[in-house]
Amino acid sequence: MSSDASATANAQSATDTLREAYNRTLYVGRPCATSHPMRIRAIALAMGVDAPPLESARILDIGCGDGGNLIPMAAAWPGMTCVGIDLAEQGIVRANAFAADLGLRNARFAVADLRDLAPEHTGFDYVIAHGFYSWVPPEVRDILFAAIRARLAPDGIAFVSHNTLPGCRLRELAWSIIRPAAADIADAAERVERTRQIARTMADAMARQPGLPAALAVEFSEVATRPDFAIVHDDLARLNEPLFLRDVVTHAAGHGLAWLGDADPFRHAVPAFGDAANAWIATLPPLEQEHVIDHIRLRRYRESLFRRDDRPAGRPMSAQRLPGLFLSAANDILERHAQSQRPPGGERTPQVIRWRLLDRLVAAHPTAIAVNDLADWTVAQSAPGGAFARREDALAMLLRAALTGAALLYAEPPRAVVAAGPRPRAFAPARWQAMRRDFVTNLRHEPAALNDDVQRECLVLMDGTRGRDEIVAQLAALRASGRPVATLDDYLGHFAKLGLLEA
Ligand SMILES: C[S@@+](CC[C@H](N)C(=O)[O-])C[C@H]1O[C@@H](n2cnc3c(N)ncnc32)[C@H](O)[C@@H]1O
Repeated sequence: MSSDASATANAQSATDTLREAYNRTLYVGRPCATSHPMRIRAIALAMGVDAPPLESARILDIGCGDGGNLIPMAAAWPGMTCVGIDLAEQGIVRANAFAADLGLRNARFAVADLRDLAPEHTGFDYVIAHGFYSWVPPEVRDILFAAIRARLAPDGIAFVSHNTLPGCRLRELAWSIIRPAAADIADAAERVERTRQIARTMADAMARQPGLPAALAVEFSEVATRPDFAIVHDDLARLNEPLFLRDVVTHAAGHGLAWLGDADPFRHAVPAFGDAANAWIATLPPLEQEHVIDHIRLRRYRESLFRRDDRPAGRPMSAQRLPGLFLSAANDILERHAQSQRPPGGERTPQVIRWRLLDRLVAAHPTAIAVNDLADWTVAQSAPGGAFARREDALAMLLRAALTGAALLYAEPPRAVVAAGPRPRAFAPARWQAMRRDFVTNLRHEPAALNDDVQRECLVLMDGTRGRDEIVAQLAALRASGRPVATLDDYLGHFAKLGLLEA
């Protein structure tokens, strides 16, 4: 057999194994917020790249699994056309059932091997390959980039997530113990149980050691607490190859794709590493900067954006390109801000303006505020000649909020409301998931957790057909049956804050 023929045969057998594994243990798909075009387009525009509008976007999800990422996009944006393909029939059966239950007309799913993708699948504005690249054989990675190049619309953008070095070297510590320990166990459930046991034992043993081992015990604790399907398809997967970002970028370049940047701006350089490191990093070419930062942060996972290399390249994100976009407070600053004290100083001092700005963003959460409004407001608050008196300084401060992860950039605001209307309506995918999953998807395209069964039942009631009195009556019936039930206002406030309400 020639070496090409043998590589193809190996890829075939690896792919058959993957199909069987994903059919046997379903991968529970979650929304990946950074893969949503409302976030990708914002980053592209901030980099001076004119990405396609969301309203009519055509999206292809390669290796879409059960549609957990694509279906909420289609549900929130009915003008989009969403196509998902996957090798494993079981995922597609579930995706079709989910889409049919929601009555979606703009999402289609097909069982297909990427290697034989039908020619009509072309001209996509956004191509998503989430959880794919590191988890398929090298020949299929080649086909992935070739397919993206061929199937992207001229201004289209691809999102490709991948496990990354050097951070995954730490995960490899755990893998090198758990994989051999579980290798001989035929039954999948037993294999997972054994893996958890070993991981817990190792975490405990390492935590008792002095120095570095105690710090690295967390690698094992993480494995022990992951869901079954993640252990099967990630930690124990035969194929799971982390790579340095620069190798992924070079690979894509060989297929006519240019790296635009990361889908999460926080993964880029920010001057946050101390003066000497900041000064050194600033002298390096962009990809080498990322390489160094991946070491400083021990990066283990990335989400790379690519576009066709015959289109103009993107430039670093610029404050001048933010007007027209929207900013929203990141979830993890809500609590911190609520507990923070307003800094000392007058209304117009920079630190107080920054704090009040955050206050505005937090109040508007889960929706977003137009950058233009925020910039105007900031300039108006500033004393003449003050730090933000010039619009460009106000915009620079807003860009910094996005780069440090305090705020998120959106091309369009998430379609959530801050307060419920007279007939509260929760996002349809979340109502569907409430009784079937341990998470629900919000209108920011994030997973959110509901705390108890009453919350789940209450969310399901909020389908826009019931007035508040009717929901109160149903809650009273639940209370009468002896269950702990809060007030409707409590539930509405909680669901609104989670970004689950669209009316
Ligand atoms: C880790 S899962 C990710 C699923 C989904 N994208 C998510 O993130 O929830 C990888 C998916 O890729 C699919 N896959 C692997 N090789 C494939 C191929 N050659 N063609 C199409 N799908 C493939 C698997 O069946 C599996 O559903």
